[in-house]
Amino acid sequence: MTRPPLLDLRDVTKTFSMGGMLSRRHVGAVNGVSFALSAEKPEIFTIIGESGSGKTTLARMILGNEVPTSGEVLFEGENIAERRGAARLAFMARVQPIFQNPFEAFNPLKRVDRYLASTARRFLGARSRAETETPMDEALRKVGLSLKEVSGRFPHELSGGQLQRVAVARALISKPRVIVADEPVSMVDASLRMAIVNLFRRLRDELGVTIIYITHDLATAYYISDRLIIMQKGYVVEMGPARPILDAPRHPYSQLLKRSVLSFDESGAGQIKPSGRDEVDLTAESLIAGRLEPAEDGRFVRLSKPILEPRQTAGAL
Ligand SMILES: Nc1ncnc2c1ncn2[C@@H]1O[C@H](COP(=O)(O)OP(=O)(O)OP(=O)(O)O)[C@@H](O)[C@H]1O
Ligand SMILES: [Mg+2]
Repeated sequence: MTRPPLLDLRDVTKTFSMGGMLSRRHVGAVNGVSFALSAEKPEIFTIIGESGSGKTTLARMILGNEVPTSGEVLFEGENIAERRGAARLAFMARVQPIFQNPFEAFNPLKRVDRYLASTARRFLGARSRAETETPMDEALRKVGLSLKEVSGRFPHELSGGQLQRVAVARALISKPRVIVADEPVSMVDASLRMAIVNLFRRLRDELGVTIIYITHDLATAYYISDRLIIMQKGYVVEMGPARPILDAPRHPYSQLLKRSVLSFDESGAGQIKPSGRDEVDLTAESLIAGRLEPAEDGRFVRLSKPILEPRQTAGAL
């Protein structure tokens, strides 16, 4: 019998209902997302998309923190929504999150070693001091720190980069198969970003951890991803091997993201601000209405027409 995938998302959809009885609105945060991650081969699987494209909602469903409106998320062949009690805790140990802002993830009034200790107690059932501290120190060493270095320190006494590494160490204590990292480098200085993403590579290569890396930073995505999906308005518009897609994106939205990175680099300023965005939005609905079709390099592209023709306005695009 072949092993089931580590994670298997089947047509996962999340719709939020907002407003009152008379002004009810539905937001399709995630629409029909399907992909599977192998149990045999750890990888860095990246989710790219601009703000509001559904990345965090998808991450929350993978972590079991949000239940899909339809579709299912299977972990090692089992629907995670059905896990309760001890089975739920065992799942949480195997699929661990890392959040965007380490200063928010840690309680500012709690020493970081105490935070790590409560993780060891919760997931490993550690009781004695040695039972608690040994896995803490092991996890910290995997990220280039040690218990001695962080003991007694409050979050604000560590740099953003150090604290994000402590967050990675915390996630490693329970020996996870998957780490879901939601924009883990966006609050970290550019100079430290590579250190964190290199750490993800090491976790993949040395510990066999699969990383779901959520970002809108195409540079680090290009550098570390094995495969990726590009999301627009909750839909996957392009999916497959990372480098071929980022070298030559096919979907207009993917192309737009790539162009906006170039203008982002040139200006050196803040967030991704796609230029020429309106032109793509004009065609977005019909493109989203299409199906994901197989294309070159083993990728899938959502196209309602065989070849994309983003609307040209004089000089734009
Ligand atoms: N709890 C919620 N209730 C209602 N709407 C929500 C909720 N969570 C997310 N949404 C909506 O779902 C859509 C997707 O949001 P999501 O946070 O998943 O996007 P994102 O890609 O993570 O964005 P960002 O890059 O800003 O983090 C947005 O339109 C958002 O407003
Ligand atoms: Mg988000």
